[in-house]
Amino acid sequence: MDKRVINKQIIIENYSEKSSVLYDNNINKNFLYGEATKRFIKNIKLNSKDFVVADIGCGTGYVFEILTKKYKEKKIKFYGIDPAKGMLKVANKKIKDKRTKFINGSFEKIHLKNNSVDRVISTLALHWVKSIDKSLKELKRVLKSKGSVDILMIEKSDGKEFKKLVFRVMKKFLSNKQIFNAANLINRVTKKEITKKIIKYFDLKKDYNLSVKIKKKLIYGNCNDHIKWWQARSLQIISEIKNKKLFINTLKKELDKFKTKKGIQFDLSLLEIHLLEK
Ligand SMILES: C[S@@+](CC[C@H](N)C(=O)[O-])C[C@H]1O[C@@H](n2cnc3c(N)ncnc32)[C@H](O)[C@@H]1O
Repeated sequence: MDKRVINKQIIIENYSEKSSVLYDNNINKNFLYGEATKRFIKNIKLNSKDFVVADIGCGTGYVFEILTKKYKEKKIKFYGIDPAKGMLKVANKKIKDKRTKFINGSFEKIHLKNNSVDRVISTLALHWVKSIDKSLKELKRVLKSKGSVDILMIEKSDGKEFKKLVFRVMKKFLSNKQIFNAANLINRVTKKEITKKIIKYFDLKKDYNLSVKIKKKLIYGNCNDHIKWWQARSLQIISEIKNKKLFINTLKKELDKFKTKKGIQFDLSLLEIHLLEK
């Protein structure tokens, strides 16, 4: 058993080295979290005054892949920020639009000037940060006073039932400490908790309207679909396991036990957050 304890730095290294290529495959992009992300981005409508748009935790550039095409003619500066250099490398290779620039950074340290961004967008990254408070403070710093924010992140109960199966298998391959650490790496917040934090930094009486919605959906897939998205998004956990092949085979067997007529179920639960100027 590998005793190395997973931490946030390992998450970023793994996104960088291995997940960046897996991450961009079509199964991950079109199934489950990928599908939910696509839907979220497609509903984003930029305003005529959105000249500077920043995607924090941009990964391989999924948001800008869609937005640069949707707003082909518009004079917009698109900044993609991510701590994983490997993810940025894929993004840079893929997106050739001259209006786009990818910068190494994080939610906690956004390398953009104070008061410089009209629109902040972020998909499935805020739950990975070290501190949500620090991240919101940094968001507030870079956001123009009339700016707006769109965030998609996982909600506390996301995949609760599905992950019970995964944990059952993980127990055979990892120590309790490793499992505990892996489980605690993600900031699992409820709608109430994230709302409370946002209100601390953004004045809803004077400046902003806030909408926080929970989006729940049961997603069915076959064993391979589930294994593929899970591998693309959980490499940081798999990296802890010595015999990865045996782990994946054991996981497949466990998942197969829960196959229904519709397929194997995942209980998706996401938070859609929109902070708009009054
Ligand atoms: C699940 S991926 C999402 C990528 C992209 N937004 C998408 O929807 O395809 C999570 C991303 O968050 C990044 N990340 C991890 N820690 C972060 C932090 N503290 N601040 C910003 N991004 C972070 C990872 O490097 C990774 O690229």
